[in-house]
Amino acid sequence: MDTFIQGCMRIKDMSVADVRGLIESNLANGINVFDHADIYGGGECESLFGKALKEDTSLRDKIVLQTKCGIVKDLSCHRYDNSTNYIIDSVHKSLKRLCIDKIDRLLIHRPDALMNPEETAKAFDTLYRDGLVDKFGVSNFSAAQIALINEVSKQKIEFNQIRLSLTHCPAIEYGVNYNRFNSAGVNRDGGTLDYCRLNKIQVQCYSPYKGRKKSFIGDVRYYRLNKLLKELAFKYKSSPNAIAAAWLLKHPAGLSVINGTTRQERVVEIAKARDISLTRIEWYELYHACGRVLP
Ligand SMILES: NC(=O)c1ccc[n+]([C@@H]2O[C@H](COP(=O)([O-])OP(=O)(O)OC[C@H]3O[C@@H](n4cnc5c(N)ncnc54)[C@H](OP(=O)(O)O)[C@@H]3O)[C@@H](O)[C@H]2O)c1
Repeated sequence: MDTFIQGCMRIKDMSVADVRGLIESNLANGINVFDHADIYGGGECESLFGKALKEDTSLRDKIVLQTKCGIVKDLSCHRYDNSTNYIIDSVHKSLKRLCIDKIDRLLIHRPDALMNPEETAKAFDTLYRDGLVDKFGVSNFSAAQIALINEVSKQKIEFNQIRLSLTHCPAIEYGVNYNRFNSAGVNRDGGTLDYCRLNKIQVQCYSPYKGRKKSFIGDVRYYRLNKLLKELAFKYKSSPNAIAAAWLLKHPAGLSVINGTTRQERVVEIAKARDISLTRIEWYELYHACGRVLP
């Protein structure tokens, strides 16, 4: 299981040398999975990463490259497209930008209202048969939407990337507020977390430190949470980011955390979360510190 993944959504303005530095500091800290999407930086993030791989050809064999497609950002209309031709075409473009022959993992970025699972499965089969993609997954999909694809596809869904953090965890809140009339009890994702656990699908948490617009870490609007994060960081000789990551890692679903930072020092500091085992009390205290109550 990948404990941490390096997200590449924010690398657009970095130099190729800095991208290489980011790759290397992740590798030095035991993180070898890199998450992209065709739309990040309008394709620029994949291109920059590709240039870094070209500069140091030894890197490719050391890393797992994951990218996503299915969100269409053109001027005519913001939309989603999970059709066969769109997916295959997008993969060819990503391969070119990344300067590689094969994508290790392809994720469908968002569910398309017009998705025909047979069409998506056909794209997966073709890409796998042609040796262009090794494994498949989705992002922001509900349990039922994953089941629709898995029902007809030979290539099974192995990953689901969802937004999940201390301050954004409806997927967890719903489970502990089952059968209540409060808003936390609303099943917003169709029981995705439990479905993924049952079906051995790795859940990858994106935006693990994001609050309202900016990071919740250090944001005064989350005063109680930050106070506790600092106290626990002191106790565990680490940082608030590492505690926020440890909170996700404590969950028994075996979650992966996708760090979006572009700073090498933050990668190093967050990786220490692997050695932190929060107590049950600390886990629930952090849950409460975001202003939540339990039944
Ligand atoms: N599937 C999807 O729909 C989807 C959506 C969004 C993202 N993603 C993926 O998930 C990855 C991570 O998402 P994200 O970038 O939103 O995650 P994130 O790691 O929660 O947010 C990163 C941002 O928070 C800042 N930050 C982190 N810790 C901070 C602190 N202690 N103080 C101040 N600022 C802090 C970082 O700044 P610094 O750079 O200065 O550290 C960076 O701007 C992305 O790169 C992408 O690969 C997927």
